Amino acid sequence: MDVALSGLSKSFGANTVLKALDLTFPSQKFVTLLGPSGCGKTTLLRLIAGLERASAGTIEFGGRRVDHLSPGERDIAMVFQSYALYPTMDVAQNISYGLKVRGTPKDERAERTGVVAKVLEIPHLLSRRPKALSGGQRQRVALGRAMARSPKIFLMDEPLSNLDAKLRATMRSELKRFHLDLGTTSIYVTHDQLEAMTMSDLVAVMDGGVIQQFGTPEEIYDTPANLFVAGFIGSPPMNFCDGTVAAHDGTPVLQIAEHSVRLPESLPRGLEGRTLTLGIRPQDVELADAGDSAAVPGRVWMVELTGSERLVEVEIAPKLRITAEVRSHINPPIDSPAAVAFPPDRLHLFDPDSGGALPRAA
Ligand SMILES: Nc1ncnc2c1ncn2[C@@H]1O[C@H](COP(=O)(O)OP(=O)(O)O)[C@@H](O)[C@H]1O
Ligand SMILES: [Mg+2]
Repeated sequence: MDVALSGLSKSFGANTVLKALDLTFPSQKFVTLLGPSGCGKTTLLRLIAGLERASAGTIEFGGRRVDHLSPGERDIAMVFQSYALYPTMDVAQNISYGLKVRGTPKDERAERTGVVAKVLEIPHLLSRRPKALSGGQRQRVALGRAMARSPKIFLMDEPLSNLDAKLRATMRSELKRFHLDLGTTSIYVTHDQLEAMTMSDLVAVMDGGVIQQFGTPEEIYDTPANLFVAGFIGSPPMNFCDGTVAAHDGTPVLQIAEHSVRLPESLPRGLEGRTLTLGIRPQDVELADAGDSAAVPGRVWMVELTGSERLVEVEIAPKLRITAEVRSHINPPIDSPAAVAFPPDRLHLFDPDSGGALPRAA
């Protein structure tokens, strides 16, 4: 069942938290709301769940208005950041309670509980009480309780945030697998870009109560719509520097400090003299020899090993540093001369005033 929001706004007093959102979560897709803390993600989920009333706009499930329905009437399951288990029930009872309330027969309840417990790797915990569980185990039980109901719409608010890194990675694929098996429409909230990129069919990047971009993980990563999305997605973050468009031997270049960076041939005409913000991901920056005339010269400012890769920060002008991600066997000495090359087809260009992306080279 798809979920369609139109003109959806929410204010708390004078604080407008969601600003006229138009967004459709397609049926059976896994869609993530990704954005920094405080951007309105939880509020949006609570509106969809019916726990909060909109200030304006409509919410439809499968083409039918649900604004007047209570949470219980919406056939959704949710897992929230702060979850509460029933302390006097054991894990199996906690997971199957929602089914019991709906009058599901005992055999079916036991079967569903078993399936969910297996997915979450907690069959050995079924007879324990919540107080005998770790935080991570409790979180999995809370997930299990929502999963057991096979809802049409599954809402999750940072459900993995209390788990350790290893379990988080396992749970990402388990949750995605469960979503596929169940055929639900999943709406997942996180501030963690890795979760969003790995799990989602579609990602809605939010900031300041506005959807900044809605697209597949590839679209969001390869063609960020604006400076916010470009800077928020990707690790380490995209490099940015401002420059002025000029022409050099007939090809467009961006003048950055005393350097000229070649721009894509497909750049729109008539930009000469304009200031643009250039963005390039550390993975796309090439480390060149200090004397390479096609590269921008500078000095190695810092070198950091991340594991299989190394981050080399090259200062190309006072306080202007470009990070290149290179293979770990490349390890230039700090303060040694170096140069960075920017492949024109890997550049992202933005209007510094509006923040919007310029059309990119094919
Ligand atoms: N019940 C509430 N009353 C007043 N302000 C709220 C309430 N709930 C959320 N807010 C405000 O709305 C903004 C967005 O919050 P929230 O939706 O929790 O963001 P996120 O989940 O993205 O971190 C914050 O500024 C928060 O203080
Ligand atoms: Mg939140």
